[in-house]
Amino acid sequence: MTLAFNQVAVIGAGAMGRGIAQIAAQAGSQVWLYDTQSEAIQKAKDAVFQVWDTLASKGRLDAETVNSYKSRLHSANTINDLKSCELVVEAIVERLDIKKSLFADLENLLPEAAVLVTNTSSLSVTAIAAALKRPANFAGYHFFSPVPLMKVVEVIAGLKTDATVCERLTTFAKQMGHTPVQANDTPGFIVNHAGRGYGTEALRIVSEGVADFATIDRILKDQVGFKLGPFELFDLTALDVSHPVMESIYNQYYQEPRYRPSFITAQRLAGGVVGKKAGEGFYTYVEGKPVVAAEPPVPDVKEFPPVWVSPRASRRLELLQLLKDLGATIESGASPSPQASPSWRHWALTSPQWRWSSDWILRAPLASTCCLRMPPPNDAFWPPTPLPAATCAMQRMPCLPKMAKPSVWSATVVVSSHSAWLPTL
Ligand SMILES: NC(=O)c1ccc[n+]([C@@H]2O[C@H](COP(=O)([O-])OP(=O)(O)OC[C@H]3O[C@@H](n4cnc5c(N)ncnc54)[C@H](O)[C@@H]3O)[C@@H](O)[C@H]2O)c1
Repeated sequence: MTLAFNQVAVIGAGAMGRGIAQIAAQAGSQVWLYDTQSEAIQKAKDAVFQVWDTLASKGRLDAETVNSYKSRLHSANTINDLKSCELVVEAIVERLDIKKSLFADLENLLPEAAVLVTNTSSLSVTAIAAALKRPANFAGYHFFSPVPLMKVVEVIAGLKTDATVCERLTTFAKQMGHTPVQANDTPGFIVNHAGRGYGTEALRIVSEGVADFATIDRILKDQVGFKLGPFELFDLTALDVSHPVMESIYNQYYQEPRYRPSFITAQRLAGGVVGKKAGEGFYTYVEGKPVVAAEPPVPDVKEFPPVWVSPRASRRLELLQLLKDLGATIESGASPSPQASPSWRHWALTSPQWRWSSDWILRAPLASTCCLRMPPPNDAFWPPTPLPAATCAMQRMPCLPKMAKPSVWSATVVVSSHSAWLPTL
């Protein structure tokens, strides 16, 4: 097999960089890992070596393969050590100014034909490339955490990216065992755009006092089939990454209310309670494992409260119909009675029909954010069809195919505009 890139540099040896270095070395490339914190390089190498050793101890890799992988993963002491690389993958801090300055230095150091890519989650590829002399050789290469397990990678062309660069990156992604999808340079690309509602909606539910972090995580895993709840995901990604990403995408869409970040993550970030890597996030971690309080017993609710829907709620009729289908008792007065559920969302979260109601909460933002604004559905239409790349990316996210219940999906798409999934109460 002819590798698309033989000499690869990975800059930033954090959570993402080490995973990218691992799969590139596994593919057969010589990989040079560089970080401004030299101890981060050694830590990353130790972690990757540990992964390979563990796989060998389980009989999934033989000793010879492990040795060849290890021999291909090198430390770069200075950025000058990267000067003969054909591909540089940047996975450093998510700051436009710092990324731009790094790429300007790299352009002066590397051969003209070198391909430079960014693993940015939320910044514009075109904006990072704007000051470069050779923007045609620059692209986005967006992996997901943990890189070796999350098999999708978005290949993103900026305005001036040469198509052959994307083709080469696509080939290399396959050689690394990943599934490349072509994405446009739009805020959040495909996956981070499609999944935007997952975290922000969960934060909104918490801020309304409807349920706590662990309860929401539990429901979404047990009832909806997600591998990780939104708060576990925040802890894994870490708020120093995900909160700025939420702010960035919100602002790039000109304060679209659906993507509004929350004071909860802003405050926790300011307090350093950023997630698993800090030992404390939405959960506290002891020896790398979250401490989760025992699930409270199921309350003995004899009768579910009625639901009142404001006459000002947009698409009220559809909302009422959906509530009716879910089995809610609907109030018809001009204002809510003292018994009425404080919000439809509360009703949804306390409904005995969890599966339906929590699907509804989640799918509405998903449906409306993934460029999937389609007319109300016919019958089965999962996976969604309009954008092959979007479809492919979503199928590769382990949680999403499990949500495939066309009937439920259909119900949710009906209410998928912002104003409908956040009715004015
Ligand atoms: N964490 C995720 O889930 C995730 C997913 C997809 C993309 N990303 C993106 O990947 C990038 C890295 O994220 P991460 O989670 O690995 O971060 P991280 O904090 O774990 O690691 C970043 C590393 O970059 C190093 N660094 C910072 N500035 C540097 C510079 N100028 N030169 C060299 N090294 C530098 C830091 O010392 C650190 O070791 C970000 O752009 C992020 O948005 C993150």
